[in-house]
Amino acid sequence: MNISVSLLEKKHFPVMLDEVIQICNPSKKNQLVVDCTFGGGGYSKELLKFPNAKVVALDRDKSAIEPAKVLKTKQSSQFTFYNEKFSNLDKIINTETKADVIIFDLGLSTFQLQDYSRGFSFKATNTIDMQMGLSDISAEEVINTLDENSLKLVIKILGEEQEANRIVKNIIKARQIKKIDTVTELVKIIESSKNKNYNKKINVCTKTFQALRIFVNKETSELIEGLIKATQFIKPGGKIIIISFHSIEDKIVKYYFTNYSSNKSNPSRYMPTQSNKKNSFFEKYKNNFLTPGSKELIKNPASRSAKLRHAVRTEQEFNYPKEFKEKFKRYTDIENVTI
Ligand SMILES: C[S@@+](CC[C@H](N)C(=O)[O-])C[C@H]1O[C@@H](n2cnc3c(N)ncnc32)[C@H](O)[C@@H]1O
Repeated sequence: MNISVSLLEKKHFPVMLDEVIQICNPSKKNQLVVDCTFGGGGYSKELLKFPNAKVVALDRDKSAIEPAKVLKTKQSSQFTFYNEKFSNLDKIINTETKADVIIFDLGLSTFQLQDYSRGFSFKATNTIDMQMGLSDISAEEVINTLDENSLKLVIKILGEEQEANRIVKNIIKARQIKKIDTVTELVKIIESSKNKNYNKKINVCTKTFQALRIFVNKETSELIEGLIKATQFIKPGGKIIIISFHSIEDKIVKYYFTNYSSNKSNPSRYMPTQSNKKNSFFEKYKNNFLTPGSKELIKNPASRSAKLRHAVRTEQEFNYPKEFKEKFKRYTDIENVTI
């Protein structure tokens, strides 16, 4: 069977679609929405049903080009697509045409996860690739060539895997005998390394696979740079919407919205409040987030770990938030190790 046809037949349920559309308010006149993670186009398609909305979409994955072309032929005047990473948002929008809403729906689409030839899923049997697109390395190169210490950091810190040391020791042992080139081999190594009393709710491979995927695609660096660029290219009163799926992503988003919003408390009541105003990019943000409702969870159980956060941009002039980048250097330094 033609693999691209069989993938298109698979259904991707856009997570918290109703909530996203409501926050976007696309019936408002001349709304420009940037969909930074087009995927199968779930949000873009819904937004384009509103004649006042214009959508600029991007995705790093080449597999998003085809569904985007289909949408373009239907709605050419309202829609544009770029095969680009969202860390390069500045190549696509500029300060003159700022957006009303910028959306990030992080992670993988169903199409990516279920295309076993890409090796994102531990149910796959062949290549351990894991490249989302516009990536520089594959997971196979990482597994077979990254030094032991760096590999431990990747799996322990990016995957939050407590048994990283044993897993890495066994990877090193195995690759000394023969190159590890299939997902099946990697899964066996992980399974044999894990303590038998593991948490039965998640597959033993989940954390290692997450770590490799984050590393291959430099996902935390992408998120940090994407958030900063979105702040630069959103109108005052405009909204940034982020749907995250794991704790590192959510930690970064929560920190950014909370610490760069006007609710940040004054360190001392004797200090002039002006000192805090410096980086109030967002209106009051009180750690609010949405999760999928029970109906959605039944229809799409994969949405269970999703958290939707959104923040509203103030008039505050943009200045580069260096401190934000510094704060999460622990993750980005790991991602930037060269092989
Ligand atoms: C969860 S899916 C989005 C699904 C989409 N909202 C829909 O309804 O079909 C995430 C998408 O974001 C893309 N993506 C992830 N990181 C990206 C990045 N840094 N830049 C651009 N696209 C990215 C992935 O390739 C994937 O297609």
